[in-house]
Amino acid sequence: MIVLAVETSCDDTCAAVTDDARVLSNVISSQAAAHSRYGGVVPEVASRHHLELVNPVVQAALSESGAELGDVDALAVTTHPGLIGALLVGVATAKGLAAPLRKPLVGVDHLQGHVAANFLEPDPLEPAFLCLIASGGHTLLAGVTSHDGFEILGQTLDDAAGEALDKGARLLGLGYPGGPAIQREAENGDPEAFEFPVAMTRDPGLDFSFSGLKTALLYTTRELDEVELDRRRADIAASYQAAVVGQLTAKLERALAKGEWEAVALGGGVAANSLLRERAAALCEDRGLRLKLVPGELCTDNAAMIASAARFLEPTPYPDYLDWTAAA
Ligand code: KG4
Ligand code: ZN
Repeated sequence: MIVLAVETSCDDTCAAVTDDARVLSNVISSQAAAHSRYGGVVPEVASRHHLELVNPVVQAALSESGAELGDVDALAVTTHPGLIGALLVGVATAKGLAAPLRKPLVGVDHLQGHVAANFLEPDPLEPAFLCLIASGGHTLLAGVTSHDGFEILGQTLDDAAGEALDKGARLLGLGYPGGPAIQREAENGDPEAFEFPVAMTRDPGLDFSFSGLKTALLYTTRELDEVELDRRRADIAASYQAAVVGQLTAKLERALAKGEWEAVALGGGVAANSLLRERAAALCEDRGLRLKLVPGELCTDNAAMIASAARFLEPTPYPDYLDWTAAA
């Protein structure tokens, strides 16, 4: 089945073509440069950029895949959750492509997309597995027992892990997006130089919390003058990254403690983090579990994951999707 998918839930304009589990093209136009001077995503700016970029991105995805629009069996689009104005651009685009050709359209939950990135070639992962999804907007542990949904086993009570990294990077003057910037800075730092709280480790459940960590970083940076901050920036970044990853892996370890899962996957932008990938690999190796790590471009937002999710969902026939909107 050939699927053309569009994803515009945040600040990446994405389109992809898949043939079953094979990715034929996966085009991502990042707007990071447009948002970096604000230190985070500005919703209105994102919507305007999506409007300008979405048609060329779809055209590029089609031409790279070698498929024509007429060859496509179904279209797919992220309908929620995300920035409402940004989502609407994708939904309107997908409807506009599907309707003239009377093609079916599949509405996809963005988080199901992050889970479904693991169903793609090479080495697709079959359910059941435990999936840690950590992105700029979400942090959760998902129990995946089928191809078309997941159970939330625990989630953040406040900020998302990626949000903590983005806000942390802003405090450290490292730019946006913060996750990759902190990772780069941390390479030259000592992760034990500063002590940041690894929240929720004594909490018996599987929920997360990152807002205290951000406040702790604020206090740390306030105590340092500019020269000292410059001198210690790498150490702070390394210690901060270690605290974020420490909480993620502590909860992952707790979720695995009962021995119910034989395979583990990571998803969402933070899953591109090399320290998290190393720690998760060590955890799984110790327990003899399979760990599925998709490449970085399938961790951060992309449309191939939306096409992958669509394969296992009910398509909506023309014209039933014409009144679709998006939901934040
Ligand atoms: O999944 P994603 O692209 O968008 C959302 O659905 O939010 O995730 C974006 C988040 C950002 O917070 C970004 O800083 C973080 O993923 N991120 C990383 C890395 N690459 C992206 N965090 C840590 N290490 C990375 N290498
Ligand atoms: Zn995402």
